[in-house]
Amino acid sequence: MYNIRKVTDDLFWVGANDHRLALFENCFPIPRGVSYNAYVLLDEKTVLFDTVDWAGCRQLLENLEYVLDGRPLDYLLVNHLEPDHAASIDIILKTYPDVKIITNEKAFLLMRQFGFSIDEHEQITVAEGDTFSFGTHTVTFVAAPMVHWPEAMVTFDTTNGALFSADAFGTFGALDGKLFADEVDFDRDWLDDARRYLVNIVGKYGPHIQLLLKKAGPILGDIKYICPLHGPVWRENLMYFIEKYDTWSKYLPEKKGVLIVYASMYGNTENAAQALAGRLCEKGMTDVAIYDVSSTDVSQLISEAWKYSHIVLASVTYNLGIYPAMHNFLMDMKALNFQKRTFAIIENGSWACRSGDLMSAFIEDEMKYMDLLNERVSLASSLGAGKAGELEALANALIDSLEGKED
Ligand code: FEO
Repeated sequence: MYNIRKVTDDLFWVGANDHRLALFENCFPIPRGVSYNAYVLLDEKTVLFDTVDWAGCRQLLENLEYVLDGRPLDYLLVNHLEPDHAASIDIILKTYPDVKIITNEKAFLLMRQFGFSIDEHEQITVAEGDTFSFGTHTVTFVAAPMVHWPEAMVTFDTTNGALFSADAFGTFGALDGKLFADEVDFDRDWLDDARRYLVNIVGKYGPHIQLLLKKAGPILGDIKYICPLHGPVWRENLMYFIEKYDTWSKYLPEKKGVLIVYASMYGNTENAAQALAGRLCEKGMTDVAIYDVSSTDVSQLISEAWKYSHIVLASVTYNLGIYPAMHNFLMDMKALNFQKRTFAIIENGSWACRSGDLMSAFIEDEMKYMDLLNERVSLASSLGAGKAGELEALANALIDSLEGKED
């Protein structure tokens, strides 16, 4: 059965939702599912903007058949070749043997690499700044390299103001009927997944997102709809989400607050993390979040790190090194080019306590534009009463830093 939503009178969402996939890219947990968005424009010519993951192919075909209502599919316009959007291209080409393909040179190359049968179809290669008319609607193309792959581009319909933004402005989470961001409580229910999606998948390419936002600058006022490849379509309050993307891609925190991530084998390091949180709250800093590095998916930790201005890493020493899960978190932050935060350290070791020095060295030597507070809590096995002074000093240093006072 078809399942479509109308974006405008002649533009339709024809995508699919997926609640079966446990790990997006076989990597990131998606307990709220994900949507693969595709759109059809019914102009003098008919156009399909992108396809869907193989898991949603049958739904796409049923949706297309219903929306086209006997008309041929004239064009397939491809903005992004990653298989969560492109896997169904080949079946579309086979189902609509006369469809013409519009995309850029790199995307055609990738189509061949993926083995799609494009050679029986007319191929229209476009580049940044080109325009193409489907009748009433004229679109223009903007290259968006590394948002999220090198071939990625976005397409702007200058007639109705719809921006087909590819992975940009996407989010984890299945739509489940609600197509528009103004049909959900985005800030409450979607923002964390939107941040987790962006920063884990494209976080490394913040400068490329900035470049795309810069290119979009002159037409911002003309954009009436943002139609991403995942998650809700935006038709109201667009600047809310555009400003989030601007903040995230500049590696700036969304809020002043403290993220405490602890690695604890028997609860003693966790005890220190909790004691620090208590003191911070006692002093009025209640925007504090605590996570166990061993039981929290690293994509969630990354998202929370992107959100907060200050990060406390509390780790036991393990094999004379950093606890493996904490080391993995550090490596992931480095891999994603994460920067511009203030760190503090709690270390623990029953003998040869090394985790604090190693985490400090990682932050200072391996990461960019990070500050590290001098105050450190150093435990020998457990948080004894004698450590109250160190804990107090660390809490005070964090508060001072949050208030913009010198360390
Ligand atoms: Fe949602 Fe880069 O694909």
